[in-house]
Amino acid sequence: MSRRGVTVWFTGLSGAGKTTLSQGVAQQLRAWGLPVEVLDGDVVRQYLSKGLGYSKVDRDENVRRIGFVAKLLTRQGVIVLVSAISPYRQTRQEVRQQIGNFIEVFVDAPLAVCESRDVKGLYRKARAGLIQNFTGIDDPYEPPENPEVICKTAEQSIAESVQQVMQCLQDKGYL
Ligand code: ADX
Repeated sequence: MSRRGVTVWFTGLSGAGKTTLSQGVAQQLRAWGLPVEVLDGDVVRQYLSKGLGYSKVDRDENVRRIGFVAKLLTRQGVIVLVSAISPYRQTRQEVRQQIGNFIEVFVDAPLAVCESRDVKGLYRKARAGLIQNFTGIDDPYEPPENPEVICKTAEQSIAESVQQVMQCLQDKGYL
């Protein structure tokens, strides 16, 4: 019997640690010889979603495109790791329904922490008014109400967060 695929969807503010965490999980799964694909917002926006901006309409379109690809891969038995802010609850709910085998991971770091990390220097630009509609500053982020996993990346190590996700995959029978 072929293996059951799943999409692990990392949602959270810019700088919360979605990319780092998804890469950590990918590394572990690959080391075990499992089929993994990563769909990262920053990368997707260079290709599949090139030209889309950050209005609600464009973000929802971005999330739906990612969800569509994730669905195809998931039904082929792949473990798909998505990292995208995906700020709107209802749109995340929609891709969850579409995909079926779905684990939502809330990468939960306080705005102040994300802002102090400011890995890409975008928070500073948003505060200076050089970028508009920046999530958490002048654009909404709707936290998940019932995520399968919550990773408090400001309080725990990356290794601990990776372990939480691996444990959830195991508990739900995907490993
Ligand atoms: S989403 O809202 O459509 O899910 P996505 O995760 O693909 O967002 O892209 C977010 C990334 O785009 C951020 O990590 C950041 O590097 C960059 N970015 C540029 N402008 C914005 C903005 N206005 N709001 C949020 N992120 C932005």
